[in-house]
Amino acid sequence: MQLANRRILLGITGSIAAYKGAELIRGLRAQGAEVQVVLTRGGAAFITPLTLQALSGRSVHANHLDAISESAMGHIDLARWSDLILIAPASANCIARLASGMADDLLTTICLVSQVPLAIAPAMNRLMWEHPATQENLARLRARGVQIFGPASGEQACGEIGPGRMLEPSELLDLTARFFAQGRLAGRSVLITGGPTREAIDPVRFISNRSSGRMAYALAAAAVKEGARVVLVSGPVDLEAPRGVERIFVESAAQMHDAIAARAPESDIFIAAAAVADYRPVAPALSKIKKDASNRQLELERTPDILAEVAAKHSARFIVGFAAETENLETNALHKLKEKRLDMVIANRVGLPDRGFDSADNEALVLWPEGGRRELPLARKESLAAELMAIIAERYDAKSQTENR
Ligand code: CTP
Repeated sequence: MQLANRRILLGITGSIAAYKGAELIRGLRAQGAEVQVVLTRGGAAFITPLTLQALSGRSVHANHLDAISESAMGHIDLARWSDLILIAPASANCIARLASGMADDLLTTICLVSQVPLAIAPAMNRLMWEHPATQENLARLRARGVQIFGPASGEQACGEIGPGRMLEPSELLDLTARFFAQGRLAGRSVLITGGPTREAIDPVRFISNRSSGRMAYALAAAAVKEGARVVLVSGPVDLEAPRGVERIFVESAAQMHDAIAARAPESDIFIAAAAVADYRPVAPALSKIKKDASNRQLELERTPDILAEVAAKHSARFIVGFAAETENLETNALHKLKEKRLDMVIANRVGLPDRGFDSADNEALVLWPEGGRRELPLARKESLAAELMAIIAERYDAKSQTENR
């Protein structure tokens, strides 16, 4: 099951090859993928929504003005739902509209709002394929990172011979599987917390911290590059969600806790990179607190320790925690590793102006049980994240092998 749990949004556009979409859906589902079909008006001239619905097991979306399908899963939700958008067949017209960024039907609208990878399987007459307009459009799409699957050469529906035939469903299936099989975390799901939390004092004031979320966001991007499905539960930060990452925004430690509790059972690796407030006001005021001449006391209570809870409940998962320390880095980090029963702790110094919290750079001391240790020197958070993710993948494999023995 090379595509287990992968969510593929299959766009079918106006080409005679649309009928091959039926076989493609079968193949994708046989490999464990979930398939959601979006049919363009042109596509609907060649294959019926009913056929596609029966094969995909989901209702087919055909028009973005369709009030019923919008209420079930609107175009934004559809864009977020998928891990890959595959347009097969992609007509010359569809390619031209994608290249110029048009959003005049549901499929092109989804492509414009989506942050997941896009692959297209062109299908058209050889003269349309060879036309400079089509070739320029394809070059633009390629430059934007769109994967072009095919086309094949051969006899065409119109009787001509040449390039432009859509690849066979079995070939498209192989290319799709190969696309997902890249990376050391291919087929794994990674859940990450990031950023600060905000604990309300009253409707306009809160307790928070200096975390920028950059380390968590860089880790999320690095996990996607390693082929993982990534969910990032993020406190309030001013960062774009990395491409391919499902982001869930939360404010308080309690909300972060609930979002993680809902997602932890379905994830293989949990990385707690958030700077979760350890305390919150016991009784946040319901209306704005007015000043007066007296001093104030704010009573605080502990928040749930999300990391410790996930480690205790889901010991089979691979659990990574962070330790931000101003002193005794290694001793404190080792204490956290043991105390919270983690598989790995990533420790770094805070309180220095050029690294850690709210800075573009960081360094890390990585520790795992039985004396495992790696020191990573000061680097941009993005390259540090790539190194950390490689270590996480390596240790994750080691843990899985020990458990399977
Ligand atoms: N963490 C969490 N939930 C909390 C608090 C912390 O998930 N309520 C996670 C952080 O994301 C991080 C790790 O736990 O991965 C940090 O551990 P913690 O013991 O909270 O560190 P400090 O807050 O620095 O603790 P201490 O006051 O003991 O130094």
